[in-house]
Formats: sequence, C-alpha cells, structure tokens
Amino acid sequence: MRIVETIAEVRRAIGQAKAEGKKIGLAPTMGAFHAGHIELMRTARRECGFVVVSVFVNPTQFAPSDDFERYPRNLEADADMAKAEGVDLIFAPSAAEVYPEGFDTYVEVGKLGRMLEGASRPGHFRGVATVVAKLFGIVSPDRAYFGLKDYQQLRVIQKMAGDLDSAVEIVPCPTLREPDGLAMSSRNAYLNKDERAAAAVLRRALDLAEERIRAGERDAEALRSETLRLIESEPLACVDYVAVVDPKTLEPVARVGESVLITLAVHFGATRLIDNTLIEVSG
Ligand code: PAJ
Repeated sequence: MRIVETIAEVRRAIGQAKAEGKKIGLAPTMGAFHAGHIELMRTARRECGFVVVSVFVNPTQFAPSDDFERYPRNLEADADMAKAEGVDLIFAPSAAEVYPEGFDTYVEVGKLGRMLEGASRPGHFRGVATVVAKLFGIVSPDRAYFGLKDYQQLRVIQKMAGDLDSAVEIVPCPTLREPDGLAMSSRNAYLNKDERAAAAVLRRALDLAEERIRAGERDAEALRSETLRLIESEPLACVDYVAVVDPKTLEPVARVGESVLITLAVHFGATRLIDNTLIEVSG
C-alpha cells in the first residue's frame, strides 16, 4: 500500500492501474477509521481491482464554530488499518494541495442540501459536494463508496453525480454499530463516559419507531413524537431534530408509505451525533 500526498502521484498510480485493466474504487473519508470506514474498504476491495481511500479533513465543510481543529487525526493508525484491508492507495493531501491559492469554484447543492443537516449546518453540503467532486476528478473512480450512516450526504452525492453527469457509480454501504447500537462515528471519541452511555438511546428510539411501524402505525407525527419522547427521556440528550421523511426527497411525510426514513441529530454535551433508519414497509 502506498500513501501519497499529491494529485500528480494519484494520477500516475491510477493511470497505471487503469492500464492494467483494473476497476477503480474510491472511499472518501476524513480518517480516524472505525468499523464503518472499514466496511466501505471491504466492499470496495470485493468489487474493484484498485482501491483508493482518501483521508482529508475537509475545511470547507466545517463552519467556523464546528470541530475542524479538534477533529481526530491519526494517519499512522489509519494507514495500518487500511493496509490490513488490502487498500492499494491512501491519498492524504494537505489543504493547500486540495485548495490552492486562488481556488474559487464550488458545487452549490440545491434543496436536498438545505434541509435537515443543511438547515442546522449551512454550507456543510456545499463543502462536501465540492470536495467529493474534486476527488472524483482526481481519482476518476468507477465506483465510490458512501455510508448510509450519513444518509443525507449519500443522497446529496447521488443527486450531484446525476445532475453533473458523473460516470461514477455511487455505492451505499450499511451502517456499522457498536454492540449497544450506537452508530460508529469518529465523533464518538468526544463523548465522556456518561454521554457515551446516554447516546445508546438513539438506536433504541429508531428501533421503537420501526416497531411502531411494524405494528401498523402510519401517522408520521405520532411516530415522530414517540421517538422524540424516548430520546428526551434521556437527560443528557438535547435534540436538534427528529424527522420522518421521504427517503428520496427528504421532505417530511404525513403518512408512512412504502418506505420511510427516520433521521435525527442529537447533542450529548458538546458533541452532535446523527443517525437514521430506512424502513421498508411491506403490504
Ligand atoms: P467521514 O465522516 O470520515 O465518513 C467517511 C465515510 O464513512 C462516509 O461515507 C460515511 O457515511 C461513512 N461512515 C461513517 N460512519 C459510518 C458507519 N457507522 N457505518 C458505515 N459507514 C460509515 O463523511 C465524510 O467523512 C466526509 O463528509 C466526506 C464524504 C469524506 C467528504 O469530506
């Protein structure tokens, strides 16, 4: 496995892999790997001849008040984990490599990027879409792997790829969880012991919503308020939003149809966590 920092080195490695007839798989990440990241690498490894993982804490997707400075960074440990998964290339550029002096073009995400996370974090998806478009331009992958954990991000990327006629196939990957159900996240490391224990309420709340749907509940507001009530029963939880939405448009629904997404963002102390569940309803 090689670790490179420049776009030129990536292009050379990709040129060679393509000349060897290999399919290129890309997993964009911000590092601080956990099992969720590993899942993307494994899926890419199964499906592609040459696997690239980018490790870049992208400044344009963080607001000034966000956790950019304290976001965990540990390239050495990440490289060991990626190597063990058979990753071929890590691209770990500097901010100046990605955004050189004079950089002035951004991908403006429409409606999908303004709701939910976009409403709470204005400009976030503009930064995400811009860096992912650049990574697609740098790596020119056949397939790119994204986690369902960040469901809205996945939808924003799918929409961007469609709207901008990208040839990259976007591959969604399942959410990996801790034994108590908490979705793996690099930000879980910020939680103190009490907050970490409290955060398990998120999965319980999503499970409750699913149970209620399986039991026949179709009223979205009833589901939303039950989910909200369970989360708010945890004193350390401070809810940003809980929403019952159409998985495609991310618009709130009044009634649960064939499929529905329950998505939420909740603060535990200074740490903001997101999670969701996609529920397919049969009959
Ligand atoms: P990051 O948070 O490092 O996540 C990288 C990828 O891992 C994303 O596709 C994310 O959805 C996926 N992922 C995170 N937690 C997961 C989990 N518990 N199970 C499965 N997959 C999980 O998302 C970003 O970085 C950035 O916004 C990025 C796309 C790299 C652009 O900067």
